Amino acid sequence: MGYPIWDLAIGGSLLMALVAIPHVIVSHFAIGGGLLIALTETLAVKRGDPELRGLAKRSSLMLILVSTVFGAISGVGIWVVAGLVSPGAISALIHTYVWGWAIEWVFFVLEIVAALVYYTTWDKISKGAHLLVGWLYFVAAYLSLVIINGIITFMLTPGRWLETGAFWDGFFNPTYWPSLALRTGLCLMMAAAFMVFPAMRAAAAHRVRLVRYLGWWFAAGALVSYAGYRWWEAALPDSVHALFRGATPKLATLAATRHFALWSLATALALAVIILLLRPRLARPVTAAVLAVAAFAFFGGYERLREGVRKPFLIHSHMFSNGLRVAEIADVNQRGVLAAAGWAGQAAAADPADTGRQVFRAQCASCHTLDGYQSIRKALPSVADALAVAADDPAGSGARAYREQCTACHPDVSYQDMKGMLPSADEIRGDPGMIRDLNQGMIAAAVVKLRAMGEVYLAADRTTMIDTSPLHSPYMPPLVGTEEEAEALVAYLASLADGREPRMAMKGGE
Ligand code: HEC
Ligand code: HEC
Repeated sequence: MGYPIWDLAIGGSLLMALVAIPHVIVSHFAIGGGLLIALTETLAVKRGDPELRGLAKRSSLMLILVSTVFGAISGVGIWVVAGLVSPGAISALIHTYVWGWAIEWVFFVLEIVAALVYYTTWDKISKGAHLLVGWLYFVAAYLSLVIINGIITFMLTPGRWLETGAFWDGFFNPTYWPSLALRTGLCLMMAAAFMVFPAMRAAAAHRVRLVRYLGWWFAAGALVSYAGYRWWEAALPDSVHALFRGATPKLATLAATRHFALWSLATALALAVIILLLRPRLARPVTAAVLAVAAFAFFGGYERLREGVRKPFLIHSHMFSNGLRVAEIADVNQRGVLAAAGWAGQAAAADPADTGRQVFRAQCASCHTLDGYQSIRKALPSVADALAVAADDPAGSGARAYREQCTACHPDVSYQDMKGMLPSADEIRGDPGMIRDLNQGMIAAAVVKLRAMGEVYLAADRTTMIDTSPLHSPYMPPLVGTEEEAEALVAYLASLADGREPRMAMKGGE
């Protein structure tokens, strides 16, 4: 609220993901690489094993130099994009964690300097000194994880910070240690998977031995990740579990993501045991790539889950994804959202649908695009949807349409009951205006429910994590604003559902 809104056809969260995913993957490579390369070089020097040392050396270009440089550049990209997509959140994070970020950046500088020195001084300085630089690199890289982990986990489980507002309460929050364990295991797995490639370039006589050596690290990383994952899940409050666990998760896609992540991890471990430990001769670029993909899949699934279960918040129980603070709800209801979000209000016009569009941009566009990711148009009931439900032609398609288009808002009504309530397909074809009116009524009723959620948040105890699971839409912020603004939103949404879009609705900005 209160910042300009950046309208993006693909949606801010998708752009953020596009920038963040490569960064996060590569920066875990950089950390895991630091650990595994420093360990490998230390072992090699201790045992006088030139092959092992060669492995560390061949790995260091990609794992340390390239990943650190790429990590640094894409990290800047994250700040730029996040600052544009969620200015309110970035402001809140900076205000809470200014010293955390400052420390983080000190470690980054140290990490980059150590990476440059390490890569350029192989066989140029004494072995002991080179090892020292390697460990220095790892410590700096790992400490940057130690810091950022405090900030990322804080957003999902702010814990006692909600009560005290104290830096350390937010930093060492309930998911801090589980998440650190999980990420440490991940870093190890990813680095070990990558090092299989340079290991295959070793002399034939040593290849099997080196691949097995990496296999142990990969397996250890997978087990640590798994333990970290379970611990992470156990540290989440029940209200968060309700979104993605149990017999009827509130967000089915997140439950699927969880399965995907855990199966990927199991696959990665099984493949590592077979390819790296039992049959090291199977280790080929292709099999190593499959291994890396399985590890990535787990990683991606976990990150998606972590982001997903935080809905509807950016900082749990403090700030919603659209920048609205829980503490602001009463005030914005009274003043109006267009007054509070001054930038959105500029274009509010005589046509209520245009005002409604501004309300949508200020409150809904951070999660819903018009027609792309999380499309709002598809989420709304349309005449075509009702027709598909009523016609049921071919047989079975009606039930599917109902499941996809209606059950989000009608979880307790069976398909048969709904069919009984709807007019027949022919009647709908003859008088689509009747369904259009029904849809408009549904949208109005749904908006009323969204607005009523604000009362629940107002009444909630804000010193602990708020339980959103009993809410009508546990993954959506409440609608805030005046009565007239809510009505304008209904007019706008109804015009979308009809396919009669207001002028400009498809254009990006003004
Ligand atoms: C925090 C992100 C977020 C915000 C902000 C948000 N939504 Fe949603 N919305 C969701 C999610 C997630 C779903 C469920 C999608 C699914 O089931 O896969 C959803 C679903 C919907 C649906 C489908 C029916 C339902 O209840 O599941 C409608 C309609 C909807 N949103 C309207 C809105 C409106 C109107 C606003 C603004 C007042 C809004 N949303 C703001 C995340 C959000
Ligand atoms: C955005 C949420 C939303 C979606 C999606 C939605 N509905 Fe509704 N619908 C409502 C609300 C809210 C009501 C008002 C009654 C209530 O609270 O259940 C309602 C009422 C109805 C009614 C009137 C009977 C009654 O229960 O009061 C019918 C019939 C109906 N919906 C059919 C459908 C069909 C068919 C679909 C799918 C094409 C659909 N709805 C999709 C929110 C929705």
